Parts: sequence; structure tokens; C-alpha cells
Amino acid sequence: MISAQLKGRDFLRVNDWDADELVLVLDLADRLKARQRERVAHRHLEGRSLGMIFQKPSTRTRVSFEVGMFQLGGTSLYLAAGDLQLGRGETIEDTGNVLSRYLDGIMIRTFAQADVDGLAAAADIPVINGLTDDFHPCQALADVMTIRERLETFDGVRVAYLGDGNNVCHSLMVACAKLGMDFVAATPEGYEPSEEVVGWAKAAANVSGSSVELTHDARAGAEGADVLYTDVWTSMGQDEERERRLADLAGFGIDDGLLALGSERAIVLHCLPAHYGEEITKEVLYGPRSAVWDQAENRLHAQKALMALVIR
Ligand code: CP
Ligand code: NVA
Repeated sequence: MISAQLKGRDFLRVNDWDADELVLVLDLADRLKARQRERVAHRHLEGRSLGMIFQKPSTRTRVSFEVGMFQLGGTSLYLAAGDLQLGRGETIEDTGNVLSRYLDGIMIRTFAQADVDGLAAAADIPVINGLTDDFHPCQALADVMTIRERLETFDGVRVAYLGDGNNVCHSLMVACAKLGMDFVAATPEGYEPSEEVVGWAKAAANVSGSSVELTHDARAGAEGADVLYTDVWTSMGQDEERERRLADLAGFGIDDGLLALGSERAIVLHCLPAHYGEEITKEVLYGPRSAVWDQAENRLHAQKALMALVIR
């Protein structure tokens, strides 16, 4: 039986959900992962439909939502934003109103978080944020699921995020703080996570008894870390900044030297796609400490749990 506690809820940012709610998703994700491995049917969303609006490219998010919905017994529609009337000026609110009449849930990947919030306000079905310039909450679910799977606990886990203090960093930071993991973001000056999000994470850490730190020293960040996490230095929509970013972020890439500073049980995570020799070396990505491929797989299981819990 699927808990009814979260039915109808949007998942727009990690900070909107409390730790118990996140754990509900993670526990169901573990169970659904086992069912899928054993080929035991779990058609919790039979007859339901998910619309997936994409205004940016995607490999993992698109495939994991689409396959996940299929495995749950439902169906999904890939809606390229440019092919919708949205691309010709129909408002996000009107789009949300209309899609609510056809669908049971919407996943959206776009630029402005305000558009996701506007869609959710207009829609009377659950809206799931599949990445904005500010947040990537579904990624954070898979990230913390992978950490718990590999390290078997959140207690006493130190997570170091190295590189650009971006959307992925924001969602991961708040998730770690809510779930009681110590978090440090090591970024160059000018690439820190947003002050507002750091404030949310610190408030959550006060409740869970964990900590949130910022540093400009990659080695200090990696020191003693149980999880070394990184993401691309140039996110979607920032391509014209690429040369500057490459220069500014040099020294923050995860290589064997930085990894050696981590704890004995240290694992490496990366949300992917990766750029070898920039934020991570190919040796580390494919090395014995890498949990990256499990992490990518866990997008599927975590999102299936999320959809099963929120879609009515
Ligand atoms: N990590 C992630 O969201 O990957 P995609 O951009 O391929 O969806
Ligand atoms: N920060 C990256 C994440 C890609 C999954 C981006 O926004 O492009």
C-alpha cells in the first residue's frame, strides 16, 4: 500500500518538504528498486498520465521519468516546450490549467524557477521540478538515496560539494542538512551557492543537528569527506560563459589527489553529464570509489517513488 500522506503535493524545491516526507520517498524508492530487480509488478499508477515539459535537453531525467511511469502502469508524454503553444506565447498559467484537465501530473524542466512555481499555482495536479536554473530536487532525492545505500546511514556522514555552487549544489545542500548530514561547499570566490539557499540549509541543519559550511579551499573541503560530489562547471544556458568558468574553476576538479583527502569510506558522486578533465577525471568517474552509475540509476527508483506518492 502506498501512503496517502503526500497525495496531491508538488515537488518544486527540497526545502518545501520536511525530513520525514523525504524519508518516505527514499524508503519507497528502496522498495521499488527491489521490486523492479525481482520483476515484481508494482503498477501503482495504472491509467495515470504524466506530462513532461522540457525547455532544456535531458538524458537521465527524460528517460527515467518516462520509463518510471511505464513501470508504474501509467503513461507519459514528452512535451518539448517549443512545440507547445507555450512557445508561441500562451502563458504558463493557461498551460497549467489546460494540462490539469488531461493529465494526472506534470514534470517540468525549464530556466526560471518562477515559471515552475507559476505552473504549480495554476495546475490542480502535482507539479514536479525536473530542473531549473536554481534547483534540481529530483537529483537530490537520487543523491541521498545513493548515499544511504552505499554508506548505510546519514548519521555522521560528511558531504563535500566541489565546484560551481549551482542548482544541483542548492538542492543537495538542503537535502543533506534536512537529513542530518554535514555539508561543505568548496567553490571559488564568486561561485558560492546563493545566500538564501544557504540560509535555508543552515536553518534545516539547526533542526537536524548537522552543519553547513562554505570554503574557497578545495582541499579543505575534501578533507575527511565521506562523499565527494561535483557537477559541470558550465550549466545549461551558460555556454557563453564557458571560457571564463574553465579558468575560474580550475583546481576544483575531483582527481585522485583530491579524492585521497577523503575518508576511508569515501564515495564519489556526480549528477552527470560529466566533462572529463574539468570537474572530474575519467579515472575517478570510472574508479573504485565512484557510485555515479548507481546514482544515475537511482533517479529512476527515487522518481517512481515520488510519483507513486504524489499522483492521485
Ligand atoms: N542529471 C540529470 O539531470 O541529467 P539529464 O540532464 O540528462 O536529465
Ligand atoms: N547544473 C547542471 C545540471 C545538469 C543535470 C545544469 O543545470 O546544466
